[in-house]
Amino acid sequence: MRPLGQKRGDLALLCCLALLLPLLSHGADMPLGSTLSPGANSAAWTSPNNTFSLSFTPSTTSPSLFVAAITYAGGVPVWSAGNGAAVDSGGSLRLSSNGDLQLVNGSGAVLWSSNTGGQGVAAAAVQESGSLVLKNSTTTLWQSFDHPTDTVVMSQNFTSGMNLTSGPYVFAVDTSSGNLTLRWTSGTNTVTYFNKGYNTSFTGNRTLSSPTLTMQTNGIVSLTDGQLASPVVVAYSSNYGESGDMMRFVRLDADGNFRAYSAGRGSNTATEQWSAVADQCQVFGYCGNMGVCSYNGTSPVCGCPSLNFQFSNPSNPRDGCKRTVDLQNCPGNSTMLQLDNTQFLTYPPEITTEQFFVGITACRLNCLSGGSCVASTALSDGSGLCFLKVSNFVSAYQSAALPSTSFVKVCFPGTPNPPPGASTSSSRRGSGVRAWVVAVVVLGAVSGLVLCEWALWWFFCRHSPKYGPASAQYALLEYASGAPVQFSYRELQRSTKGFKEKLGAGGFGAVYRGVLANRTVVAVKQLEGIEQGEKQFRMEVATISSTHHLNLVRLIGFCSEGRHRLLVYEFMKNGSLDAFLFGDAPGGKMPWPTRFAVAVGTARGITYLHEECRDCIVHCDIKPENILLDEHFNAKVSDFGLAKLVNPKDHRHRTLTSVRGTRGYLAPEWLANLPITAKSDVYSYGMVLLEIVSGHRNFDISEETGRKKFSVWAYEEYERGNLFGIIDKKLPGEDVDMAQVERALQVSFWCIQEQPAQRPSMGKVVQMLEGIMDLERPPPPKSSDSFLSTTTGTTGSSGGVSTSMVSTIASTAPIAPTTSPNLEQEMALGRSTSARNRERVSRQLLSPQPYMTM
Ligand SMILES: *[C@@H]1O[C@H](CO)[C@@H](O)[C@H](O)[C@H]1NC(C)=O
Ligand SMILES: *[C@@H]1O[C@H](CO)[C@@H](O)[C@H](O)[C@H]1NC(C)=O
Ligand SMILES: *[C@@H]1O[C@H](CO)[C@@H](O)[C@H](O)[C@H]1NC(C)=O
Ligand SMILES: *[C@@H]1O[C@H](CO)[C@@H](O)[C@H](O)[C@H]1NC(C)=O
Ligand SMILES: *[C@@H]1O[C@H](CO)[C@@H](O)[C@H](O)[C@H]1NC(C)=O
Ligand SMILES: *[C@@H]1O[C@H](CO)[C@@H](O)[C@H](O)[C@H]1NC(C)=O
Ligand SMILES: *[C@@H]1O[C@H](CO)[C@@H](O)[C@H](O)[C@H]1NC(C)=O
Ligand SMILES: *[C@@H]1O[C@H](CO)[C@@H](O)[C@H](O)[C@H]1NC(C)=O
Ligand SMILES: *[C@@H]1O[C@H](CO)[C@@H](O)[C@H](O)[C@H]1NC(C)=O
Ligand SMILES: *[C@@H]1O[C@H](CO)[C@@H](O)[C@H](O)[C@H]1NC(C)=O
Repeated sequence: MRPLGQKRGDLALLCCLALLLPLLSHGADMPLGSTLSPGANSAAWTSPNNTFSLSFTPSTTSPSLFVAAITYAGGVPVWSAGNGAAVDSGGSLRLSSNGDLQLVNGSGAVLWSSNTGGQGVAAAAVQESGSLVLKNSTTTLWQSFDHPTDTVVMSQNFTSGMNLTSGPYVFAVDTSSGNLTLRWTSGTNTVTYFNKGYNTSFTGNRTLSSPTLTMQTNGIVSLTDGQLASPVVVAYSSNYGESGDMMRFVRLDADGNFRAYSAGRGSNTATEQWSAVADQCQVFGYCGNMGVCSYNGTSPVCGCPSLNFQFSNPSNPRDGCKRTVDLQNCPGNSTMLQLDNTQFLTYPPEITTEQFFVGITACRLNCLSGGSCVASTALSDGSGLCFLKVSNFVSAYQSAALPSTSFVKVCFPGTPNPPPGASTSSSRRGSGVRAWVVAVVVLGAVSGLVLCEWALWWFFCRHSPKYGPASAQYALLEYASGAPVQFSYRELQRSTKGFKEKLGAGGFGAVYRGVLANRTVVAVKQLEGIEQGEKQFRMEVATISSTHHLNLVRLIGFCSEGRHRLLVYEFMKNGSLDAFLFGDAPGGKMPWPTRFAVAVGTARGITYLHEECRDCIVHCDIKPENILLDEHFNAKVSDFGLAKLVNPKDHRHRTLTSVRGTRGYLAPEWLANLPITAKSDVYSYGMVLLEIVSGHRNFDISEETGRKKFSVWAYEEYERGNLFGIIDKKLPGEDVDMAQVERALQVSFWCIQEQPAQRPSMGKVVQMLEGIMDLERPPPPKSSDSFLSTTTGTTGSSGGVSTSMVSTIASTAPIAPTTSPNLEQEMALGRSTSARNRERVSRQLLSPQPYMTM
C-alpha cells in the first residue's frame, strides 16, 4: 500500500495531464475523432520523445493560411498533409469516426484524405522516426513514410514508384536502373533534366527489382536493392560521419534541386550537405518560361532574354518573362535576336527530336522560317549541333563559360539587353527627377575624377613605355561572339584557392585546378616568360579562343594584369594521355577501342588547327602530355597557339629547353634549323601514334629493342611482320582489332618519315586511320641519304628559321608540300571525297528544311 499523500499527488498529476492532453500528447495514440486546428488554440501530436510533431504551421506563401506539417524539433518540416495544401484559420485535420484522416478547409471542403475510411483504423500516432501512422491495435494500416511529400528522413525507405514533388518538379528513382531522375512537368510537357546512375560497375546491366533510397544516420545517401549484395553509395554528406543530436534528410527543393541536409535538434534551419545538380542554372525552368538563368557571384539570378520581354511577375523573377509584343501580332515581321554565351536548355525527350547538324547561320534561319520555332541554340562546341525550340516553354542559361550562341524570335525590332552595369538607371525609372539629379551629380563627380586622373597620368606617366595605347579598343573583342572572358587576378586567385591544387607543369607554366562562380571546374595556366604587350597577348588569346573543336581543349578566358598572364581552360577530368600509356594512371590500362578513338580524335583536332580554322596554327609541341581526356575519354589537344605567346626573342630557346626531356617528338628539321611547317606536327603525331599502339616511349632504348630506339626497332619488327611484338603487352588480346593496329602502325611510319614532304597531311592521316583511304607500305622512316643533304634544295625555299617561325601558317610557310605532290598520291590511293566534305554533305541532309535567305 502506498501512502495517501502519494496517491493525491498522482491524482493531481493525472489532472494536469488530462488538461495538457489536447495540447501535448506525448507519443500517445490519438483516438478516432481527434482533431488538430490552426490558430490560437493550436495543438500538436508529438512523438514519444518530442522529436517530431504534427501541427498546423503558417504557410510560406501566405501568413493567413496554414499547413498541417510534421516538423522536427525546432521546426524543420519533413512532411505535410496534401503536400503543402493550405487551409484558412477555420480549417482542421481530423481523424474521422470511420478512420479516415482528412484535411478540411474552413469552408468544409476536404482538401486531402488518407483514404483509409472503413479499414479498421483505431488511432493515429506520430512515431519517434517521424512517421505518422494510422493503425488498429496490432497493425499499421497507413503511414506517412509511404506517402512522402518532398522529404525523406533517416530510417525512411524511398522506393522506386514513389515520387517527391515540389511545384513542377518531381524526383523519382528509376525502377530498372536505379537512376536518380529529376523531371519538370507542366501539363503534357515533361523534361528530364537529371538522370544519373551511380557506380554502374556495381549494378552492371542488371535490372533492379525495387531500388530503395535511404539517408543513413552517418550521412551517406545509399541505394539498396534485392539484386545488390550491398548498398550503393549515392552521395556523401559533406559532414559525413559526424554524429550528434541531429536529423539528416534529403529533399526536393522548390528550386528543382535535390539536396541532402542536416539539422540540429532545436534548430529551425537545415544546412545543405550535398546537391544533385551542381550547376543550379541547369535545372530546367528555374527561371520560368523564357527566363534566363545566370550567376551573380555564386547565386543564380533570373533575367529576361532582351528588352522585348518583361518579367511576368516583377516581384518574383523566377516566374519567367512575357513578350511585350506577341509573335502573333507581327506575322512575317519577326527577327532572330542573337544571345551570346547563352543556351536554351535541351534535355530528353527534346534532345533526340529537335537536334540538327547545321551551322550557326542555318541554326538561326531555320528557326526564323519555322512557324512554331521560338528560339534556337547552336552549341558551338565543335559538335555542330543546333537545337530548335518548338515547345511553348523554354528555359535559358547564360554564362561566359558557355560557348553556345542562341537566338530568340521576337517581333521586329529586336532590342538587346543593355550590357551589364549600364542597367541601373532603367530599373529605377519610378523615382523620376530625383534619380536624374543624382545621376547628373554622380556623372559630374566621376568625370571630374577621371579628368583629374587623366591629368595626373599625363603629367607623370606619359613617357613610360608600359602604358601603351589605351586598351579600350581591345575591349571591343569581348563583345564578339564566343569571346573569351577576362578575369581579374584576384578572381583567379580565389577560384584556385590561392593556386593550391597543382594539376601539372607544362612547357609554358604550371596548371592549377579552379572552380568558377557557376561551379564550372577549370584548369588555370599561369604562363611564364611572357613579355609581350597587352595588345599582342589579347590578339593571340582571341585567336586561340575562337578555335572551337570537339578535339581541342577550349579556352574559357584569360587574365592579363601587370606581369600576370593566365589562361583559363575547361577542365579535363581524365588528365593527360601519357598517364594511361606509360603506366601511372589510376584506371590502369586503356582498352584498344578507346586508344584508337583517342588517336583519331587527336588527328582530327590537329587537322582542324592546320586546315580548317580561320587563323591556322602549327602546334609545335604534340606529345602525350598535351593530349587531354575528358570524362568520356574524348581526346582534346591542349596548349595550341601558345608557342607564339612567349617572347619571340626567347622563343626558340624556351621551346627547345621545354622539350628537352621529350626530344623524341621533335621533327628532324627542328634540329637541322630548317623551316618548321605543319609537317613537323605530323612527325610528332606519328611518334605519339606509335606510342598509343605500343605503350612505349618512342625514344626508349632497352635490351628488348636490341639497344635501338624503340621507333627504329618497331619499324624493323613491322617489316618482319611481327605486329604482336610491337603492340602494347598490357592490351588484353581479345578486344584488339588487328586491322586497326596495322593501319595505325602504317600511318605512324608514314608520319615519321624524315623528309617532311613524304609525310601525309593531317587531313590525310584522319582518312587513312578511318580506312577511307588505302595505304601503301611505308618506306623506312630514315632514308639512306642524309636528311641534311637532300632537303636543302626542296624545303629550303622559305629560308632558314626565323624568330617568328612558328604558329601562323598563313603568314609563314605553306601547309601543302610543294615539292613532291605525287608522293602523297602514290602512297594513298584516295578515292572518296574528303572526310570533311562527307561530313558537310551528311549535315546538309539532316537539315530540317532549306535555308531561307532574308
Ligand atoms: C527517448 O529518450 C530516452 C532517453 O534519451 C531513450 O532512452 C529512449 O530510448 C527514447 N525513446 C525512443 C522511442 O527513442
Ligand atoms: C481554403 O479556403 C481559403 C479561404 O476560404 C482559400 O483562400 C483557400 O484557397 C482554400 N484552400 C484550398 C486549397 O482550396
Ligand atoms: C488490424 O488490421 C489487420 C489488417 O487489416 C488485420 O489483419 C487485423 O486483424 C486487425 N487487427 C485487429 C485487432 O482488428
Ligand atoms: C525500410 O526497409 C528495411 C529493409 O527492407 C526494413 O527493415 C525497414 O523496416 C523499413 N523501414 C520502414 C520505416 O518501413
Ligand atoms: C509518380 O509519378 C509518375 C509520373 O509522373 C506517375 O505515373 C506515378 O503514378 C507517380 N507515383 C505516385 C506514387 O504518385
Ligand atoms: C542512367 O544514368 C546513366 C548515366 O549515369 C545513363 O547513361 C543511363 O542511360 C541511365 N539509364 C536510364 C535507364 O535512364
Ligand atoms: C563501384 O562498385 C565497385 C564494385 O563493388 C567497387 O569496387 C568500386 O569501388 C565502386 N566505385 C565507387 C566509386 O564507389
Ligand atoms: C550484360 O548482359 C549481357 C547480355 O544481355 C550478358 O551476357 C552479360 O553477362 C551482362 N553483364 C553483366 C555484368 O551482367
Ligand atoms: C548581384 O549581387 C550584388 C551584391 O550581392 C547586388 O548588389 C546586385 O544587385 C546583384 N545583381 C543582380 C542583378 O541581382
Ligand atoms: C516591320 O515592322 C517595322 C516596325 O514596326 C517596320 O518599320 C517595317 O517596315 C516592318 N517590316 C515589314 C516587312 O513589314
